[in-house]
Amino acid sequence: MKKIAVFTSGGDAPGMNACIRAVVRTAIFHGIEVYGITYGYDGMIAGNIKKMQSHSVSNIIQRGGTILKSARSEEFMTKEGRKKAYDQLKALEIDGIVAIGGDGTFTGAKVFFEEFGIPTVGCPGTIDNDIYGTDYTIGFDTAVNTALEAIDKIRDTAAAHDRIFFVEVMGRDSGYIAVECGIGGGAEFVMVPETETDLKKVVKSLKNLRKSKSSSIIVVAEGDEEGNAEVIMDQVKNKVNDEDKEFKVTTLGHIQRGGNPTARDRVLASRCGMAAVDGLISGQSNCMAGVVNGDVIYTSFEDCIGKTKPIKGDHLKLIEILSI
Ligand code: F6P
Repeated sequence: MKKIAVFTSGGDAPGMNACIRAVVRTAIFHGIEVYGITYGYDGMIAGNIKKMQSHSVSNIIQRGGTILKSARSEEFMTKEGRKKAYDQLKALEIDGIVAIGGDGTFTGAKVFFEEFGIPTVGCPGTIDNDIYGTDYTIGFDTAVNTALEAIDKIRDTAAAHDRIFFVEVMGRDSGYIAVECGIGGGAEFVMVPETETDLKKVVKSLKNLRKSKSSSIIVVAEGDEEGNAEVIMDQVKNKVNDEDKEFKVTTLGHIQRGGNPTARDRVLASRCGMAAVDGLISGQSNCMAGVVNGDVIYTSFEDCIGKTKPIKGDHLKLIEILSI
């Protein structure tokens, strides 16, 4: 292993910079040249590849976003696109790759490795926490804390006006962000795609809650099978049928992707970044470095993409019990 390349791809996540920093510095520590690819797979295809030094990653550990930029590449999904990318890496004699991203990134990395054989190790960078092979993904903790801060603020105004708020959080097909900020924010309900949302029960409970609570917070994961927060709010409002009650929707959106990474995300990102380079050196490939039960482990891209990481049942129970 003499020259490696690192890139970020898919939705950016707070902590990606800390991960890039760890990859660059670990590589340099081991005497390996390291190159940064900008704009993910698109940049690989276009040859946006530059050598990085230790100082290239100075003063970034605390910054959200990604200094290497990110993109979702259509061209890399084609064989021709991947061949162009391979030619660019071959010209620079790159013999190892660190891919920082989520399941889309790893799907691309797996195909690319199988076609062209450049050893590749991934780091789980996504706010969604939907990757098997790591308890948490880089960016998840920051996103949850951002959403939680927003919920705390919404709670103030909800209480002041006796309103019912539906707060939509990100996560694509995963309800992890919703569950954690729902528990932390004391939500009355949390709606996630992993479990069937029983709107009848929500309506019944809201009617009952009226006796004990004047305002309520309902966290809706954007991927819930009943629809987005607006759609769900309309249905619930019609059925609660209470003229005196005001219903509001707040969609938190991309605010959840920005901001300074939390300590947890910085440490996780640094550990995964170092483990990715160590893994390449020791012959790991076609896999992701993640942290499970406190230990760094390598999980094949196939499992990372193919297996699911279910939300713990006691988390869902907790919301139900604590909201009475
Ligand atoms: O995967 C991260 C994520 O923020 C999801 O939670 C969300 O569904 C999606 O990306 C939004 O993507 P975009 O930034 O392309 O709109």
